Amino acid sequence: MTRKLYIRTYGCQMNVYDSARMADVLAPLGYAQTEALDDADMVLLNTCHIREKAAEKLFSDLGRLRRLKNDKAKDGGQLVIGVAGCVAQAEGEEILARAPFVDLVLGPQTYHRLPEMIAKLARGRGPVLDTEFPPEPKFDYLPESTAPQAVSAFLSVQEGCDKFCTFCVVPYTRGAEFSRPAAAVIAEAERLIAAGARELTLLGQNVNAYHGAGVDGGIWGLGRLIRALADLPGLERLRYTTSHPRDMSDELIEAHRDVEKLMPFLHLPVQSGSDAMLAAMNRGHTIDEYRRIIDRLRAARPDIALSSDFIIGFPGESDEDFAASLALVREIGFAQAFSFKYSKRPGTPGAALRAQIAESLKSERLQILQELVEAQQRRFNDACAGRVLPVLFEKPGRHPGQLVGRSPYLQWVHAQAPSRCQGAVLPVRITGAGPNSLAGEIETLAEVVA
Ligand code: 5AD
Ligand code: SF4
Repeated sequence: MTRKLYIRTYGCQMNVYDSARMADVLAPLGYAQTEALDDADMVLLNTCHIREKAAEKLFSDLGRLRRLKNDKAKDGGQLVIGVAGCVAQAEGEEILARAPFVDLVLGPQTYHRLPEMIAKLARGRGPVLDTEFPPEPKFDYLPESTAPQAVSAFLSVQEGCDKFCTFCVVPYTRGAEFSRPAAAVIAEAERLIAAGARELTLLGQNVNAYHGAGVDGGIWGLGRLIRALADLPGLERLRYTTSHPRDMSDELIEAHRDVEKLMPFLHLPVQSGSDAMLAAMNRGHTIDEYRRIIDRLRAARPDIALSSDFIIGFPGESDEDFAASLALVREIGFAQAFSFKYSKRPGTPGAALRAQIAESLKSERLQILQELVEAQQRRFNDACAGRVLPVLFEKPGRHPGQLVGRSPYLQWVHAQAPSRCQGAVLPVRITGAGPNSLAGEIETLAEVVA
């Protein structure tokens, strides 16, 4: 008997990957994924705890699910509600106290035990909570995915964080750093490629801190892993995210020089342009060190496009500190950047600092930084007009006969293209640029026809 599973994913790409793996774990139990919430027999909310709003959103979503569960019960049906991910990890008990109609609460490190939890639940002794950090890595217990893959797929290679930036909950919710053995990563990559993936994005909270067991008995860094993956036939492109400046090793920078499949785009969060703020955030590097990393990257791969994260209004951030962030955005010339108002996370050192910044000032600064970043992104996109860029086409576009894909610099590109071009890299002449995407015309279909 098939049952319907609805998964809602919040937060980062790691959660997107985890949600797909939870679906893999549940498939042998007869659960097929649905896009229609009303049809679901089980709903899993895969949550994010990085900023405050995410947890508030969870409780409002749970309110709606409670009504759905009650409606189903009236009709003699059932709805299992599960909360997974980082809010579950951090606030499992509180979720059950505030929302006693929730059936399953599981952390990011225990979802391989979902079948066991469902069996326990069936015994009828109330909700099941599992937010341990088990000694066995979940990866060893996850079934091999058999689902068809999107053209661009995620592959988790590293998890957790030992860096303890003073604003961040990740070391508490995801646990200590862990790298999967290279052989397991390569085997999963081969399966993803066989199932249709042409681009892999290697994921980890600190992906460039990767130090997994190599297939040659040594310990491999991310650069070495990338070289091995680039040799896999059928794979067109590699990316990785998210990185920390402290782990930008020579080996990884050299991979940007030598490995053609490694795309010239890097998301390298800096968080602030001020040394005083970086120290208060416990980032472990200075602005000058960040600059030098960028110089080395550009020497290795001159066209590399850079992206970053900024936190606005960390406790103690002065006008000068904020001005330094604006100056850094201009100086590096980020092609894009994400910026967030500092959000006080319980249990992190930042939350206890006295010099908290008023919300109104954070909002004001955020707007200024975002306007600057948007203008820069716009200029970056405009500069692509007239160029021919290789585009990996991923999926149908909004208009008939159109496909959308990514440029090497992660920009979305729309073009008229036959559907058989999905999954192919084709040269596209860029004819128009918008704030968030490009439009173009395919130069030649040669690569697909061949
Ligand atoms: N408040 C605001 N932004 C945060 N981030 C992490 N923790 C916080 C917080 N407490 C941002 C950082 C990180 C990104 C994933 O989220 O910029 O790089
Ligand atoms: Fe959080 Fe810092 Fe670890 Fe990134 S490096 S996950 S920001 S603690």
